[in-house]
Amino acid sequence: MKTLIANFKMNMTPTQTKDYLITFLSRVDSEKLDLTLCLPYTSLFIGDFWCADKNIRLGAQNLSDEEEGRNTGEISGAMLKDSGVDYVIVGHSERRKRFKEDGKSINRKIKIGLKNGLGLILCVGESLAERNTLKTYEVLKEQIESALKGLYENELERIIIAYEPVWAVGSGKTPSPKEIEEAVKEIKKVVCDDFSLGASESIRIVYGGSVDSKNIKQLNSCKNINGFLIGQACLDPNEFLKICSLVR
Ligand code: PGA
Repeated sequence: MKTLIANFKMNMTPTQTKDYLITFLSRVDSEKLDLTLCLPYTSLFIGDFWCADKNIRLGAQNLSDEEEGRNTGEISGAMLKDSGVDYVIVGHSERRKRFKEDGKSINRKIKIGLKNGLGLILCVGESLAERNTLKTYEVLKEQIESALKGLYENELERIIIAYEPVWAVGSGKTPSPKEIEEAVKEIKKVVCDDFSLGASESIRIVYGGSVDSKNIKQLNSCKNINGFLIGQACLDPNEFLKICSLVR
């Protein structure tokens, strides 16, 4: 079963989310997909209500790297869990760049997420300059190792790695299936070296970056990915429904 994760980013008010979900849920065949909707914090209660009896997981887009306390404006892992959240995105390139999130902070977020019973979607990926100077493997290795430092192998069951080349996110450009397969092999090599061959075989890896209904069939030909993380294209329910129907 393919995994599809929708990242709504900073889009949709609670009212718009409700309207979206009414359209989307009436037509999606959620039994045939492993679907997670990563909504803005303010829409989580809407998602929790409308997706409750559906085979759809609720996701958030970030969590604090502190457990609780004096962190005005932050949202904790415990708050997300109690809001019905199953999965949280960490290490998205937009947050690494804009909010200077580093490996140490991402590692703390993952540990706090796990402690609170959440699953994590860890985004990793190289910039164009890094790709052009053949540093892709080095970057993926550093991002994965710093994020997963100190984790037990059995905790990887609750981690999904999203390979999201920075240059593909929101750009309309995508790597070729061969390039994605190559990067996924590199990600698995890091997991194999740091954990075990078994862990590298079972870790779930999705691709993200400018996925839409036009390129999904080609991208879906990648043999070693478990699914996709989708941004812009999920904002239109009809476009997202099309992707859902093509990916199975
Ligand atoms: P995009 O975003 O599909 O709009 O490129 C993907 C993401 O940021 O996760």
